[in-house]
Amino acid sequence: MFKGNPVVYQIYPRSFQDSNGDGIGDLPGIVERLDHIAALGADAVWLSPIYPSPDADFGYDVADHTAVDPRYGTLGDFDALVAAAHDRGLALLLDYVPCHTSLEHPWFREQVDFYIRRQSAERPNNWLATFGGPAWDRDPVTGGWYLHTFYPEQPDLDWRNPALVDAMQDVLRFWRARGVDGFRLDALQSLLKDPELRDDPPATEPFPFPLDPNYAQLAHVHSVNAPDIGDGVAAIRAAAGSDAVLVGEVYLPAAQRDPYLPHLDVAFAFELLFCPREAGAVRAAIESNPGERRPGWVLSNHDFSRIASRWGPEAARAAAMLHLTLPGAAFLFQGDELGQPDGPGHDPPYDRARRDPYRHPLAWDETPGAGFSSGQPWLAPLRAPDGPVSVQERDRGSLLWLYRDLIALRRELDGPVSFLDAPPGALAFSRGDRDVVAVNLGAEPWRDPPAGEVLLATHEASGPIRPLAGRVVRS
Ligand code: NOJ
Ligand code: CA
Repeated sequence: MFKGNPVVYQIYPRSFQDSNGDGIGDLPGIVERLDHIAALGADAVWLSPIYPSPDADFGYDVADHTAVDPRYGTLGDFDALVAAAHDRGLALLLDYVPCHTSLEHPWFREQVDFYIRRQSAERPNNWLATFGGPAWDRDPVTGGWYLHTFYPEQPDLDWRNPALVDAMQDVLRFWRARGVDGFRLDALQSLLKDPELRDDPPATEPFPFPLDPNYAQLAHVHSVNAPDIGDGVAAIRAAAGSDAVLVGEVYLPAAQRDPYLPHLDVAFAFELLFCPREAGAVRAAIESNPGERRPGWVLSNHDFSRIASRWGPEAARAAAMLHLTLPGAAFLFQGDELGQPDGPGHDPPYDRARRDPYRHPLAWDETPGAGFSSGQPWLAPLRAPDGPVSVQERDRGSLLWLYRDLIALRRELDGPVSFLDAPPGALAFSRGDRDVVAVNLGAEPWRDPPAGEVLLATHEASGPIRPLAGRVVRS
């Protein structure tokens, strides 16, 4: 089910489709809309967390790993979703959150040793939390301190405790037995830390990806990414099974992801997500992730500004062509296929890290609720320039159709990337020895683009390639 260069569609369940009018997306809603994903030609669906959660981090604070949040439905609804996905040839991946739970998970009080806790007068070390502030808070259970790499509501699990590893392996087995095909593994770089809890030194050079400014003051050499991290990932693989699809979210630059790869199928390549709309930077991002790194290319997700806003709506077609012609896996965040921009979010913000703007519901049709909900939506659905799904479906020239065409063409592309000469601002790379992808990110028309049979064009299929347009040609 998951071979070659798969396309994985990320569903943010709260914002995909509401089936009961409470304004929050849910599992029966996803079933109603699976045909949209199948029609795109995707291979798999990844669901952001669906487990019971107090939503301090919107599902990434899990209060029960083996249940469905009642707002999303029941385990019965989940089984129906698995069956409906498989009927359409779609693999189903869950989000597995190994590094922390919710403070409200019963383990926090009942399984004291499952968490990283210390007894000391002062904080045990200088580690900082990803969202800012110290990573240690007073422990209401032991009177000491507990570690939280993310929000204080997300205490860190101790993957150096074999009993915890067993318990978290049971979670994987539970979902596999229910028919789940694999998992997206959250924040894997945080799975194992320095057992001696040594202080992190001050940062001497900037981290290549965005970080909270307070957190960025330290070089996280001990608080994440321990030298034996591969052992932790291996424990996940052992329980998930050799045939499970494992996608690692490792928030580290490409070379530092290598120790994780022996146990993963794919690791997210975030280099394009943080790349400016500039040919040299795009080329460097692509070259740092050759096929051997099994990159999972990401242009948008629920954590960062969407591609249609970062690169501008005028570049959405060129961005889609780049994304979907690269070897590896391509992760498509719901709404990107429509050109959905960032939204206004909510006032006051739901998410303290201010990620609401990237999480607005999808616009399905032209009705007042945009087909997302018959009630009051938790965040307003956003309309993209080419319109909601219903409008784009009827327009053969829409962005949605370009996504469908690119995904179909992707099946035919084969072989590694090799960059070719191109004028300033433009990019040309071959896939194997047959096909060439040419994308013009510059300001001038590209007057003598690569020749050959045009397999797909974002705009005109002949003549110069205008700025922010691209073509795939076969020689
Ligand atoms: C990465 C997830 O994508 C993000 O939404 C979450 O806040 C952190 N991991 C913590 O689980
Ligand atoms: Ca609902």
